[in-house]
Amino acid sequence: HPSVAVRGAALLTEPADRTADGPDGSPRQPLAFESRPFASYGSALHIDLPQPLRAGQLLTVEIDYEAGEGPGVCWLAPEQTAGKQKPYMYTQGQAVLNRSFFPCFDTPSVKSTYSATVKVPEGFTAVMSATSWEKQKDNTFVFKMSQPIPSYLIALAVGDIVSAEVGPRSRVWAEPCLLEAAKKEYDGVIEEFLGVGEKLFGPYVWGRYDILFMPPSFPFGGMENPCLTFLTPCLLAGDRSLVDVVIHEISHSWFGNLVTNASWGEFWLNEGFTMYAQRRISTEVYGSAYTCLEAATGRALLRQHMDSTGEEHPLNRLRVVIEPGGEVTPAGFNLAGVNPDDTYNETPYEKGYCFVSYLAHLVGDQSKFDAFLQAYVNRFKFQSITADDALGFFLEYFPELKEKGVDSTPGLEFDRWLNTPGWPPFLPDLSPGQQLMKPAEELAELWAADGLNMEAIEAVDILAWRTYQLVYFLDQVLQKSPLPAGNVERLSKMYPKISKSQNAELRLRWCQIILKNNLEAEYSKVKDFLHSQGKQKYTLPLYRAMWGGSEAAQALAMETFSATAAQLHVNVRNYVRKILGLEVAE
Ligand code: BES
Ligand code: ZN
Repeated sequence: HPSVAVRGAALLTEPADRTADGPDGSPRQPLAFESRPFASYGSALHIDLPQPLRAGQLLTVEIDYEAGEGPGVCWLAPEQTAGKQKPYMYTQGQAVLNRSFFPCFDTPSVKSTYSATVKVPEGFTAVMSATSWEKQKDNTFVFKMSQPIPSYLIALAVGDIVSAEVGPRSRVWAEPCLLEAAKKEYDGVIEEFLGVGEKLFGPYVWGRYDILFMPPSFPFGGMENPCLTFLTPCLLAGDRSLVDVVIHEISHSWFGNLVTNASWGEFWLNEGFTMYAQRRISTEVYGSAYTCLEAATGRALLRQHMDSTGEEHPLNRLRVVIEPGGEVTPAGFNLAGVNPDDTYNETPYEKGYCFVSYLAHLVGDQSKFDAFLQAYVNRFKFQSITADDALGFFLEYFPELKEKGVDSTPGLEFDRWLNTPGWPPFLPDLSPGQQLMKPAEELAELWAADGLNMEAIEAVDILAWRTYQLVYFLDQVLQKSPLPAGNVERLSKMYPKISKSQNAELRLRWCQIILKNNLEAEYSKVKDFLHSQGKQKYTLPLYRAMWGGSEAAQALAMETFSATAAQLHVNVRNYVRKILGLEVAE
């Protein structure tokens, strides 16, 4: 990446001792190097070797560099943290940002172990996605990851962070002011999820499973950095209602971190299988009614996404073309190809989930499909694979299905699943969730009516509802919005549990409803929510809604963006700028 200043490259002429702490001391031969244009999101480092290598020959190249100004490394001022006392830094590698953190083969098709020595100022703690860590003198931390992982899973955070135990192999890390809440939210539950995961998918190979609560501007709900998941503090709802995100990140321990998509063009292999695994664990722990309800909210997100981009959008295929081939401008920039970071949307998640569910449907028997998933993980662990590898293994594992030609059933061809944009040709049966969805659907109907039937509305007691039932209800209300004049105001007064909620998933929906109904009286809630956190999946839909709304809504967007731009992750900031029609510097 252009932000990485390479100062020198050298060949270690005596092979470095792979078990030693570092290659210091072995003789070096300087090598010529050069940076060449590659794409808008990175450049290529070319290093000249003194003589041709034999195939399979090992060599050690040392690169001396300075980094820190690139998009993968986030520096936060004290005001941007929860405690507002000390600065903070963290890295976010996925998809292609770690090339600005250190020079690497920044593709998920290459895996390696790593070690790192991190020196921090007094009063700070460093944590990494590593299987072991040790604090030495002089505020120096030494980390080692002993399993091979792709570059995007290397992660570092430094801040005023402390930890508490929440299970036999798990602790939560957070700023001191969040630690109690973090411990309370997850004490005793993580181990259950890990145990069910191991029962379903095979051994958990990463040793520890710890969680780091990030500053509020962290752009994702969760990031599955091995041994140390990064989570948004928005999940600290106080009632464990948002644990599906933790189950999701735990599921990546098998799907994504052990078996990895070889290319970001097949990101659905990571996320589609993980959504399926997440919902398998959730079904075992919470039952199928609750899990189908959660899956229905996921389907609603896919619907919203496809409606807003158009079903035929090229990113609404499971297999996306991202190869940076094509025209190169005189300035050296590549015009063709998609930035892998721009492929983050609902399609790889929820359409991917539908495809994996379709495979399970073809098998017909849940325990047989579970056994397949375990065999799949075992077959491809520590490797990076393509969809063809995965589907080839599926057909090999179920020869009777191969014989039947299930991969070419008209309308449901595997090839169509992968390469045709649009709504999934098969949807898993979510009817076990009906008992929870039906009352929410009926209540939304009532609120969408012209003359409100208050008697029927008052007969429904939403105080007993689970968070995802409320989410489902609000998605229905949003879909029917704008409601007849006055209805949303009454709904707001009647349900403070919703309109005054501090739960991030409810706040998102409530803000969307405010905007779609142009309820200016509650604009401050949109503003407060966007000031309080910077998650991409919350931030972008709200800016899209504001920008597509009234003049007042557009003004709210501009005002909120000017006040919060500095605290947003650079990618999120650029996406918002695009939505608002502002210039984006690459
Ligand atoms: N690996 C993703 C987050 C990610 C994707 C980061 C693409 C960068 C590029 C993570 O596992 C994830 O999917 N998080 C979701 C959780 C949800 C689906 C339960 C999120 O952040 O919303
Ligand atoms: Zn994921």
